[in-house]
Amino acid sequence: MDKLEILRGIVDEALESSEYPALRRDEYIHLYGVSQCCALLAGKRGLDRELARIAGMLHDIAVCRTGKPEDHAARGAEEARDILPILGLSEGEIAMVCQAIARHSDKKTVHDPFDEMLKDADILQRYLYSERDGVAVRRRKRVKRLLAELDLPY
Ligand SMILES: [Fe+2]
Repeated sequence: MDKLEILRGIVDEALESSEYPALRRDEYIHLYGVSQCCALLAGKRGLDRELARIAGMLHDIAVCRTGKPEDHAARGAEEARDILPILGLSEGEIAMVCQAIARHSDKKTVHDPFDEMLKDADILQRYLYSERDGVAVRRRKRVKRLLAELDLPY
């Protein structure tokens, strides 16, 4: 089985056993959607698409387990550090994915290209799901920039 299928199984299990089933549908849509947006942006920006899909699948893992958004980026990075060795990633790859997860809530700061790819994918999925309500007003600048990069009208 490839790495992503193993990871999807782990994430599905977390979602199915969540104490917050009301969140389940949204989280499925969001995690799978962000993973695909990551692949798109990684391809466009010359980043590793498989690692990008992995980061997208895992980035909100702490929310699916606990239902709580507080501090979920840091908690998710810790969880990812336990999960990623199962997929056979190298230390460097694990560090890159965990760093992007840890930083993904800080959308004001501009970090490394891989970190920014995950933040943009997080927002792009919400925008694609619902143009009107998906993205908070404070994030609109990032959406505008992203759509311009993709040659799409705002
Ligand atoms: Fe997210």
